[in-house]
Amino acid sequence: MVKKRVDTQRDPLLAFREEFPILANTNYLVSNSLGPMPRAVPEKLAEYARDWGDLGVKAWNRGWWELPVTVGDEIAPLINADSGEIVMMPNVTIAQTAVLSSIDFPKDRDTVVMTELDFPSVRYAYAEMAQRLGARVVSVRSDDGIGIDIDKLLQAIDERTRLVAVSHVLFRSAYLQDVDAICRRAHEMGALVSLDSFHAVGIVPVDVKRSKPDFLTGGVLKWLCGGPGACFLYVSPTVRDQLKPALTGWQAHSRPFAFESEMEYTTGAFRWLNGTPVIPALYVAAEGPRILRRAGIPAIRDKSLRLTSRLIELADGRGYTVNAPRDPQKRGGTVALDVPHGYEVTQHLLSRNILVDYRVGAGIRIAPHFFTREDELEEVIFEIDTALESGSWQRFSEKIAVVT
Ligand SMILES: Cc1ncc(COP(=O)(O)O)c(C=O)c1O
Repeated sequence: MVKKRVDTQRDPLLAFREEFPILANTNYLVSNSLGPMPRAVPEKLAEYARDWGDLGVKAWNRGWWELPVTVGDEIAPLINADSGEIVMMPNVTIAQTAVLSSIDFPKDRDTVVMTELDFPSVRYAYAEMAQRLGARVVSVRSDDGIGIDIDKLLQAIDERTRLVAVSHVLFRSAYLQDVDAICRRAHEMGALVSLDSFHAVGIVPVDVKRSKPDFLTGGVLKWLCGGPGACFLYVSPTVRDQLKPALTGWQAHSRPFAFESEMEYTTGAFRWLNGTPVIPALYVAAEGPRILRRAGIPAIRDKSLRLTSRLIELADGRGYTVNAPRDPQKRGGTVALDVPHGYEVTQHLLSRNILVDYRVGAGIRIAPHFFTREDELEEVIFEIDTALESGSWQRFSEKIAVVT
């Protein structure tokens, strides 16, 4: 592969490419699924192995018990939260379930408002849990499969609403919801808000002090380049010590090592935790977020808008269907292109080391990030054209392993 010149004068964010070894030989357009690994990660994993290997059980003295909170503190600046407001959890489904488990549903306040385009895993958990809690889920429908009409969503929030639990950026289309308006309306109606900001944190500005959600969840494995196994839950200080999550455990106890028979909730961030944390994931989870903090979210967002607009322009030039909001203010970081034989074309791209993913109903999802060069967008479009024009997509019509 010919090494391309990296013009950091024109685009200072390209200087961060050297933080991610895979970028030397890969067109990495899939941070909406799994961000690339920072170069510091192998040493952090080796440190974990040394700590465990050399110290054995004494490794707990290396701050293992506190890691879900100390790592949360590293993420806090990215959403304008304060120290002690974020805890790490293994995944977003668990984090959202902890939220729902903390809420009671009186008969006249028995509704959770969601949308039909929220991430299925969270919707499954909410549907099942709500049933058992005597709550009902009202699911706002989409008119076009891409976005949710904000007026419809705001109208669905009424005096019966106890909780609004919606995605910040919709996973399929990257539609960016007006979360300020959602939080305002919910609070006017006396409801709480839990935002699933997995596709927002790290690629669009998120400010909990401005938007004022009661809860916000995300993960480091996508846009934050922090690897799997480390997701997070922000709980606002206004509700943090008022609620008692039923999904709980000894990390949330006032005296965990007294092994008392009754639960007594502690205060602060630990109140929202449950059992033993996923230590290896937490050793590496902050490496990506630290790089993003250095790059700066405003600069990342500016570049993302420039690159996604360019992608849409290139796709329009070929008549490919664009499944992404055309209004930049409503667009997150991903552009999905619904081209013929999208699944097979995706396999062609993967075989060329152009990493993207494919989702039924959306198409080929292309997710440039702050380290992406503009010519890498031209390359992915060129290869889509080639696969379709040469018929090479047919080589992949036999279903083979999919990168999810
Ligand atoms: C918006 C959103 N929420 C939740 C999830 C999945 O959450 P988890 O697997 O961490 O439970 C995803 C996964 O892509 C997502 O896009």
